[in-house]
Amino acid sequence: MGKQHTTQGDSQPGVAFDRARFDAVAEAFRKKYAREPECWVRAPGRVDAMGSHTDYNGGFVLTVPVDRDTWLVAARRDDHQVHLSSLNIEGDGQFDCRDVLAERLSGWQIYVQAVAQLLVEDGYPLTGCDVMVHGTLPIGSGLSSSASLEAAVAVLFSQLGGFQLDPVDMALLCQRAENKIVGVNCGVLDQYSVILGEADSLLLLDCRDLKHSYAALPADILPVICNTCTPRSLSNSAYGERRENCMTGVRQIQAQGRDIGSLRDLTAEDFAEVSAQLDPVAARRCQFVVEENQRVFDLAHAFENDDRVAIGRLCRDSFMGARDLYEITVPNMEAMFAAALESPGIIGVRQAGAGFGGCLVAFVERDKVTAFEQDCARRYQQRSGITPEVYAVAAAPGAGLLVDAQKIAEQTLATA
Ligand code: GLA
Repeated sequence: MGKQHTTQGDSQPGVAFDRARFDAVAEAFRKKYAREPECWVRAPGRVDAMGSHTDYNGGFVLTVPVDRDTWLVAARRDDHQVHLSSLNIEGDGQFDCRDVLAERLSGWQIYVQAVAQLLVEDGYPLTGCDVMVHGTLPIGSGLSSSASLEAAVAVLFSQLGGFQLDPVDMALLCQRAENKIVGVNCGVLDQYSVILGEADSLLLLDCRDLKHSYAALPADILPVICNTCTPRSLSNSAYGERRENCMTGVRQIQAQGRDIGSLRDLTAEDFAEVSAQLDPVAARRCQFVVEENQRVFDLAHAFENDDRVAIGRLCRDSFMGARDLYEITVPNMEAMFAAALESPGIIGVRQAGAGFGGCLVAFVERDKVTAFEQDCARRYQQRSGITPEVYAVAAAPGAGLLVDAQKIAEQTLATA
């Protein structure tokens, strides 16, 4: 499966070059570090088009790397120190490449340390550097701002250190960094999506075999992020409980003599034969995952055939399952679901990310997107009292160099 993909090389095709943002970040870097930046990397966020909580169940996801992203701008240092600063969040940090975790930094900086530490553990050389971060992803809203940062860090150190990492290995390293050092027991979906993405493509990801193929959206349908702007509550502990419920279900299904490795080995018909004997909570969780796996393929098929009725139905079933079976919705997500369904151009809308707040994803007719964004935001605000963020996204390429440093230097000289 999968086209050729590399996270190294020249500037990335499919990334619109935002000159104003580039100039602002370059200026901030100069102001902070009194020198010129030499390396620019970016990594996208992601939204799942279908496949909630299937990744850690060895299942399938249809995922969209999105054109909201994280930029890391850096210049080498020769004293083994990594200096960190962000344009989004106040507070600088610093660590030593020779003893990365000597002092644990807090907030977003631990993600940088975590990836750096695992690179060291895997035998890669770390290069000291001054780093400025700038992101356009909402933080903690289900669009993988953390994985985006992790991937950008891995690409940055590989560029500065002159080594190559296979993209799947890079995704696994970033996932391990989050599991082992940050302490979030996530699956591989986020890191895989933000590293292996291709412009204008969705990834149909097999989370057990770690393989993907690309799928396309019909040209006149756009994914629209509907951020409830409701902070995710209980997400870490409730996420762990959901994982545990699924594992309990798998063990109870195996105890009935079924030879399964994970829930992806069951069809809905197989599941109906074993479900009565399961603990009721585990049964609800497993039913959702089994059905959601099937919806991943059904949605890819519906996109391929531009079957809008099927897209709408699959998204609705996914949302209902997330609400009634997996129990990961909160009232404001229901308010957003209702608002989106009443807005112009809507084809389908569903929960995205881990749930418990955060974002929904809608699929909207391209020529009605502006009307949808305004109307959906207004309707949601009326229901919840909260001003949401509703905006269309495009499928973007995975993590890599933003622009070639040599070309930047030439451009800067030419315009000086
Ligand atoms: C979070 C996790 C992912 C995945 C989703 C739910 O984003 O980081 O690994 O489990 O939730 O699909």
